[in-house]
Amino acid sequence: MPPVANKDNSPNLILAGFMGTGKSALGRQLAKRWRRRFYDTDELVEKLAGASIADIFAEHGEEHFRALERQVVAGLLPEYGGVIACGGGLVVPAGMGELVRSKGIVVTLFASVDTILRRTAGNSRRPLLKGDDPEAKIRELMKKREQAYMKAGIAVYTDGRSLQQLCVIVERVYEREARALLKSRPKSE
Ligand code: S3P
Repeated sequence: MPPVANKDNSPNLILAGFMGTGKSALGRQLAKRWRRRFYDTDELVEKLAGASIADIFAEHGEEHFRALERQVVAGLLPEYGGVIACGGGLVVPAGMGELVRSKGIVVTLFASVDTILRRTAGNSRRPLLKGDDPEAKIRELMKKREQAYMKAGIAVYTDGRSLQQLCVIVERVYEREARALLKSRPKSE
């Protein structure tokens, strides 16, 4: 358990990245390890809207969904101490990367198209991958989003790594970043 993560005022850990890169699985595992609360922005959006992601997309469209995500990040996340998994497109719209970074330490998970394809098959929470050729959609979206993902946080590649190994890697990144952040805060805080 990382020492800095024990402090009540330790920064949030925020996991960003494409659908199927393992944000929720890793986030839940780290939250358990650190005895912190886990938040999933997809769940918070569904609660806020009182509707499923599939229904939000079908009835109101993607733009409305993005507005809800912004509301969640701006107003419904804890200030400190949480482990948060973001929906895959959350950091993509203009200004969202900055907003998310203002809420904690951001790690972006990456995975190969094959891994993403395998992990995302048949999930109704991912309407953007619906259709005959999900692989083409993944490639197209990934290309559009890659820059935003790189800018949003510290990149961690997940292929060929177990959940256990990823926990250790992300924990190390978090510790390093949290220490730097605590050092840079004025003493009176
Ligand atoms: C989306 C990813 C999904 C969900 C929604 C849109 C995206 O979250 O927020 O279907 O635009 O990449 P996961 O990354 O948790 O699947």
